[in-house]
Amino acid sequence: MLERKKVYVTRNLPGPGLSMLSKECDVSLHHGHRPPARKQMLKAIAGKNGIVCMLSDRIDKEAMDVAGPKLEVISSYSTGFEHIDVAEATRRGIYVTFTSDILAETTADLTFALMLACARNIVQGDEFVRQGKWKYGWAPDLMLGYDVYRTTLGILGMGRIGSAVARRAKGFDMKVIYYSRKRRMDLEAEIGIKYVEMDELLEQSDFISLHTSLNPKSFHIIDRSKFSKMKKTAFVINTARGQLINQEDLAIALKSGQIAGAGLDVFEIEPLPGPDPLTKMKNVVLLPHIGSATYNTRSRMSVIAAQNLLNVLNGIAPLYLVNPEVMNIRPLQSQTGN
Ligand code: GLV
Repeated sequence: MLERKKVYVTRNLPGPGLSMLSKECDVSLHHGHRPPARKQMLKAIAGKNGIVCMLSDRIDKEAMDVAGPKLEVISSYSTGFEHIDVAEATRRGIYVTFTSDILAETTADLTFALMLACARNIVQGDEFVRQGKWKYGWAPDLMLGYDVYRTTLGILGMGRIGSAVARRAKGFDMKVIYYSRKRRMDLEAEIGIKYVEMDELLEQSDFISLHTSLNPKSFHIIDRSKFSKMKKTAFVINTARGQLINQEDLAIALKSGQIAGAGLDVFEIEPLPGPDPLTKMKNVVLLPHIGSATYNTRSRMSVIAAQNLLNVLNGIAPLYLVNPEVMNIRPLQSQTGN
C-alpha cells in the first residue's frame, strides 16, 4: 500500500475542505482561531508534502528550507499570495495555488455595505439606538448623511472584484469611472463604465473604491498628494489591501476634513494595533478583514484549497495555480503522460 502523504493545515477551515484532505492524506491541523506562532508552524511543516496556509502565515525561504525536499505544494486559502515567496517556491519546483477570484461577488457585497454604512451613518445610528440616546423620535435633522444613489463612483483597479462592484453600482444609477493598469473596453461596452486618468478619478468621485492588487507599484498608491485632490465630501473605501493607502496620511485627511470619511476592511498592519488614531474617529467604519467572510464563500474556498492541494499530490494540474512556470521545473504526472 502506498504511504499516505502528509499535510499541515494552519487553521480550521469552514466547509468540507478538511474532510476532503483527511480522506486521502495524513492531516495535522493547527486548532484554534489564532495563527500558529512562527516557531510552531516551522516545527509542524517539517517533512510535509503539502501545506494549506492563510494570509497570516509567512511562507518564505526559511519555511521552505525547514519543510524540506518533500514539499510539493503550498495551497493558500486566499486570493492574495503576497505572504508566499513564489519565486523561491518556483525555483524549488513547489506548486503554489490559491482560491482565485471565487470571492469577488462576496467582497463586492461588503464593499457596498461599507459605502452605505459610511454615507448613511449606519454604525452611529445603531449605537445611538442601543445606548438609549434616541429620545425624540423622528427629527428633520437627525443623522443626515450623503446619497449613494446617482453619485459618482471611482474604481481603482478593474479586475473581477472591481467589475463586480461596478455592476452593483449600476443598480444604484451611479456614474462609474475607473482607472486601471489595463483598459477594459469589454466592460466599458457591457456595463457602461468610463476610463479616466487617476487625477480625474480623484477629483470627480464621491466614492473611491480600491480593487487593485498589492505590488511595489501600488504600495501607498493613495497618499497625502492623492487625498488633496479628492472632494471634501468624498469617501474612500478599501476592501483590497491596507498597504495601498498610506494610513498615516489617511488619518490626517480624515481628521482635517480633507475627505468626508472612509470604510476600511483592511489595514497596513493586521490586526490593527491599538491604540490607533482611526479607532477614535467617527467618520470611519472599521471591519476586521471580512471581505470574503460568508458561510457559502468560505466553504467554497475550503473545497478549492483542498482540491488544489490534492490535485498536485496526485500528479494532476491544480484548479488555480499561481506559478505556471513551475510545470517546467517539476512536471506533474498528467503532463508527462505517465
Ligand atoms: C483575502 O483578502 C484574500 O486574499 O483571500
